[in-house]
Amino acid sequence: MERKILIRTNCGELSEENIESQVTLYGWVARRRDHGGVIFVDLRDRSGIAQVVFNPEVSPGAYDVADQLRSEWVIKVHGTVLKRPEGSENPSMRTGTVEVMVEDVEVLNSSLTPPFYITDDVSADEGLRLKYRYLDLRRPVMQENLLLRHRVVKYIRDFLSDRGFLEVETPILIKSTPEGARDFLVPSRLQKGSFYALPQSPQQLKQLLMVAGVEKYFQIARCFRDEDLRADRQPEFTQLDLEMSFVEQEDILSLTEELYTGMVQAVAPHKKLQTPFQRLTYDEAMGCYGSDKPDLRFGLEMTDITDLARETEFRVFLNTAAQGGIIKGMVVPGLAEQTGSDMRRLEETAKGFGAAGMSHIRLRGDGPLEGLGEESALLSPGLRMPVEWTRGVAERMGANRGDLVLLMAGQPRRVNQWLDAMRNHLGQSLELADPDTLAFAFVTGFPLFEWDGDANRWDSSHHPFTAPAPGKEGLLDSEELGGIESQAYDLVCNGSELASGSIRIHRRELQEKVFRALGHKPEDVEERFGHILEAFEYGAPPHGGIAPGIDRFVAILTGAESIRDVIAFPKTQSGSDLLFGAPASVDATQLRDLALRLAEYPIHFHEGEDPMPRRPGAST
Ligand code: AMO
Repeated sequence: MERKILIRTNCGELSEENIESQVTLYGWVARRRDHGGVIFVDLRDRSGIAQVVFNPEVSPGAYDVADQLRSEWVIKVHGTVLKRPEGSENPSMRTGTVEVMVEDVEVLNSSLTPPFYITDDVSADEGLRLKYRYLDLRRPVMQENLLLRHRVVKYIRDFLSDRGFLEVETPILIKSTPEGARDFLVPSRLQKGSFYALPQSPQQLKQLLMVAGVEKYFQIARCFRDEDLRADRQPEFTQLDLEMSFVEQEDILSLTEELYTGMVQAVAPHKKLQTPFQRLTYDEAMGCYGSDKPDLRFGLEMTDITDLARETEFRVFLNTAAQGGIIKGMVVPGLAEQTGSDMRRLEETAKGFGAAGMSHIRLRGDGPLEGLGEESALLSPGLRMPVEWTRGVAERMGANRGDLVLLMAGQPRRVNQWLDAMRNHLGQSLELADPDTLAFAFVTGFPLFEWDGDANRWDSSHHPFTAPAPGKEGLLDSEELGGIESQAYDLVCNGSELASGSIRIHRRELQEKVFRALGHKPEDVEERFGHILEAFEYGAPPHGGIAPGIDRFVAILTGAESIRDVIAFPKTQSGSDLLFGAPASVDATQLRDLALRLAEYPIHFHEGEDPMPRRPGAST
């Protein structure tokens, strides 16, 4: 038979087509098994795993080397591809019907014993994985995450380039650009006592690019925010940042929808997707789901029944309603047969979310609601209501016999939070959310401002560059700031906020008005935003944009529990890089060059006291 020669093959791509071919493979020893005289090695490279065989009768030299091999050694082997003997195939391996009979082996490097097994079902805790991230990333599942992320970014670049967008890089050392988080600061050596801020997003820069006539901009942009971290938040993360001139909200939304639809088909065709994407106003989302980022893979919609609750003699309901609170709940289909102790457990879960309590109605039996009698309507112990009332509530909420009704009372914001948490809990525990579905929706019509009770002032719901809805500008001079609708929008998917954007303000006077409404003093505005206000005076075009988070989207596609799994070198929950040991202290000379001195921590100082006491040993 004619021998086909291949220069180098990827381990995971070997197939029966290569039988009788000579191949050279490079990779890491994933596993070595000594089967009485013959040694088998699972050889891993980025593409997958191939079984290579060392038989002393074929090559005594190679066999002797194989005897020394240990996990994660790097080797090069040369040999012939053979069909595996009958009965020894491994159907769970892509290359499971073939093996390579090694004629020659070279050890390219040895390895210390790795601190954890490099397999997909790793048992090591995340701290260890992050400290040895370069080993963690060798795991096939992590390689797949990196590959998927690459394909997502490549799709975005191609899609937008085809539509006339320019990718423009913007600076990392810049001045504060507010997105609602704390800035990371970088001290300047050349201008001592001054600081750069790392961009929380390229928001102002992309707007300035519109003033510059770029018209269609995008960037795969790194953003930095010093905020409390969660599973879907990192201190540095990546956005697809984009901006367009001469557009309206609808143009941005349809472009975004087209991008995501095409991208899912290209990179994750097995995912189920509904088009056109659902549209919800902010009020609808809050009313129906208690959240502006609802998971729409399942129902469990909510209904406000405050008016019906007022008709009762139940003190919790009456007091709540009298204090401006609401009584709101949701229907869980088919759960009327839960026991009293099931219900107590569910109420404990609600309390775990912060809820003061949770009432319920079990609508037992079947048939029409009219037939519901006292004996089949099981209410929580505190609720003693006539059956007509129960029927009225069920009707209002769209509940049927066989369903469970859950009710919570409190101030609207809190009730929405608790119900949202309960809804997501039920979605998960009842397995209502299909992991293969991507339920995209646009949420529009956000309020321009929201009241910050802690700081006792109005804050931007999105950011201060967002335009009010057409015709609402006049309200900026009134007291009714809470009622002004904005032109901001979000893209949500499976309970996660994937993207935010808005049509922007492009006129100086309107931007100044918004800053005033936010309580900024004119001199502060000039100092912080003078550059962009001035730019608006040089023919700024109307413009708008959006910024989808890349990490969150890839995490949803892979089913990762945290965005850390789709970032090559992420930080821990407390903001540490365990591989590099960052953040770290710096040399006294570095501090001196920057004219910085460290205060003792924690800092306790009073008026007149030096807020920067000398640290023992500090040289400045
Ligand atoms: P926003 O602040 O809403 O908008 O951010 C847009 C998207 O970025 C992602 N995101 C994050 N991902 C990981 N970790 C974080 N800490 C984090 N913070 C945000 C989310 C979010 O939807 N400049 C505006 C956009 C615009 O108006 O065009 C902005 O940054 O997916």
